[in-house]
Amino acid sequence: MKITVFGSGYVGLVTGTCLAEVGNDVICMDIDETKIEKLKQGIIPIYEPGLEAMVKENQEAGRLRFTADVKEAVGHGLFQFIAVGTPPDEDGSADLQYVLAVAKSIAQHMEGYRVVIDKSTVPVGTADKVKVAMNQVLQERGKNDLEFDVVSNPEFLKEGAALDDFMKPDRIVVGTDNPRTAELLKALYAPFNRSRERVITMDIRSAELTKYAANAMLATKISFMNELANLAEKLGADIEHVRQGIGSDSRIGYSFIYPGCGYGGSCFPKDVKALERTAKQVGYQAELLNAVENVNDRQKKRLFEKIQHYYDGNLKGKVFAIWGLSFKPNTDDMREAPSRVLLEALIDAGATVRAYDPEALEEAKRIYGNKKGLVYTEDQNEALEDADALAIVTEWKQFRSPDFDHLSQILRDKVIFDGRNMFEPAFVKQSGLAYYAIGR
Ligand code: UDX
Repeated sequence: MKITVFGSGYVGLVTGTCLAEVGNDVICMDIDETKIEKLKQGIIPIYEPGLEAMVKENQEAGRLRFTADVKEAVGHGLFQFIAVGTPPDEDGSADLQYVLAVAKSIAQHMEGYRVVIDKSTVPVGTADKVKVAMNQVLQERGKNDLEFDVVSNPEFLKEGAALDDFMKPDRIVVGTDNPRTAELLKALYAPFNRSRERVITMDIRSAELTKYAANAMLATKISFMNELANLAEKLGADIEHVRQGIGSDSRIGYSFIYPGCGYGGSCFPKDVKALERTAKQVGYQAELLNAVENVNDRQKKRLFEKIQHYYDGNLKGKVFAIWGLSFKPNTDDMREAPSRVLLEALIDAGATVRAYDPEALEEAKRIYGNKKGLVYTEDQNEALEDADALAIVTEWKQFRSPDFDHLSQILRDKVIFDGRNMFEPAFVKQSGLAYYAIGR
């Protein structure tokens, strides 16, 4: 099938590449010509395990092409995916200008029937706006007879596991008001749907809301656990025991109940805010969403508070090794990462930070440049050199089993602050280290 994907960022690139992987003829379009030139040469703008190889393979097979030419892009695909960004504007609502600009350019250049698929995370009601924008352009062109359908088909990709999530999805949500389009989408997704039926069809607004509901629910689980973790500390309980105690209830489950130093990333913070905002616009006060966000903002400060408390507020001249900068393992993404809150607070308090991350160093340099008080280090041991204490912010695999005796020797103040509960406290303490984690 012929497919066009607008937006060669994270979602667009993964979508286009995976659709090519199963044999479709895909064009990925982006207005950023430099990005397109690089993609043509096989240079991928993001870090995602397996993606580079898959792009290359499909490019070589001629199933995946890149263009900055809108006309070519619109002319190509029966299916036109919109996978451009929806960044939050000042009040937290999703900014739709890029989505609507794509919709208009599809209408501007189409010469036959098109299925326009919203893949970007967009507020409820966006598909209606896409329709209005497209009809307006078609009218201006005097081409009202050209037909199109709009579908909401939200993505549920996790960074770091995006290819797997696309190839073996839990579900494929298709929101449409036209049964014929639902059939087309089912055919498109048939290769990902072989072992069981994964396509869930519904009306457009429900599909749009499903995406926000999923992310808000997951964020709620995390904030709930973080709230309980803070309470456990005050009560002298261990949240890790509590986690196992409740996770064993199949109604609750073990996943997504890990307490820590807060959730980050491009989705949860933005989507919780945007949903809250949507609620407000229709006159509903979303109490729970507001609390989820507040708990998370507070949680991102927890590690710093613990450090400050340990040092009685005297952080001037102290040196901290930080392991982990990305908002979670297996990505170089630092958007809304808890590490940023910690390192900025430490530096503001007069400390020096020696930062290490297996993938996000370049991104950190892009964000912070030569920030005073921040030293980038090339491996986890180099970060420890001359450090008073170690703080762990991201649970990369390679941090799971450090040599605690060595840490005890090298860290001047013999103390670890762990924002991800990576270790067994009693085991760490055997090496003469003080150990502060979350909720225990
Ligand atoms: C998320 C959704 O999972 C995905 O379905 C959606 O499409 C986009 O948003 P992602 O942002 O890649 O994906 O990250 P995810 O793996 O969900 O983690 C989000 C944040 O929650 C991370 O900061 C992570 O550290 C934190 N988290 C996750 C916890 O603190 N505890 C948990 O138990 C799980």
